[in-house]
Amino acid sequence: MSLEQLLAWIPPGSPDEALARRVNFDQLPAHIAIIMDGNGRWAAQRHLPRVEGHRAGIDSVRDVVESSARLGIDVLTLYAFSVENWKRPRTEINTLMTLLKRYLRLELGTLLKNNIRFQVIGRGDELSPDVRHELEIGIRQTEANSGMLFNIALNYGGRAEIVDAARRVIAAGVCADDLDERKFGEFLYTAGQPDPDLLIRTSGEMRVSNFLLWQIAYSEIWVTETLWPDFRRRHLLEAVLAYQKRDRRYGGIKPSPIALGVK
Ligand code: IPE
Ligand code: IPE
Ligand code: MG
Repeated sequence: MSLEQLLAWIPPGSPDEALARRVNFDQLPAHIAIIMDGNGRWAAQRHLPRVEGHRAGIDSVRDVVESSARLGIDVLTLYAFSVENWKRPRTEINTLMTLLKRYLRLELGTLLKNNIRFQVIGRGDELSPDVRHELEIGIRQTEANSGMLFNIALNYGGRAEIVDAARRVIAAGVCADDLDERKFGEFLYTAGQPDPDLLIRTSGEMRVSNFLLWQIAYSEIWVTETLWPDFRRRHLLEAVLAYQKRDRRYGGIKPSPIALGVK
């Protein structure tokens, strides 16, 4: 994508336009992963039931998905429901699942218009048949799209993913000598995808909550106090700009002229 495509969607003269113009399109994160957190606190601040926070969070999802596609991000992964989230009250879980189904039904057109391919990562077989049905429609209808890959992490756990991968490694009969990090990665839910370059968490918590544990080994982490229902394109652009200032070393040293022995 390009600055032009992004600007076509941003009101001229807005603060978002100024942010968009500062983005270096040659240095975009290939994969952005987001821990969407703070829906309950957003609702509590307004003396509303928690589920109203989840409802409001859908607008953020809509905005961030389209903004990421227009920005030219290759992969966007949103953490929607963890394997630990089953500990929540049944009514809250039901609302989350209903919202997800509604989102998919209403947003399919937007996904298609933006050439987005939709996929689910997590233990899908433990979801209810109606949710699975809706997910399958979304996956099937967008599978031929060649633009951004949009992963929803649903009934997802990083440790569960690693255990599932290990089981599949064994089932595939891979012998110990042939197993290395690259090979193991082929058995993860994210096989074939780049690791997240940028991990965003909203609402200020400094933890990873069992998200993409294998894949975030060298991700740049950006945490904002903004609660998920308040998160918009502007915050995404701020995160990308912050990412572009980071110095990624992967355990090496900064390749400065002095370190390289250049006079
Ligand atoms: C994130 O918001 C949504 C999900 C985890 C499904 P929370 O519901 O965790 O909101 P807080 O963290 O309680 O504010
Ligand atoms: C992480 O948020 C899970 C999702 C965003 C789906 P939580 O609210 O469940 O995480 P903790 O409990 O604060 O670590
Ligand atoms: Mg939370």
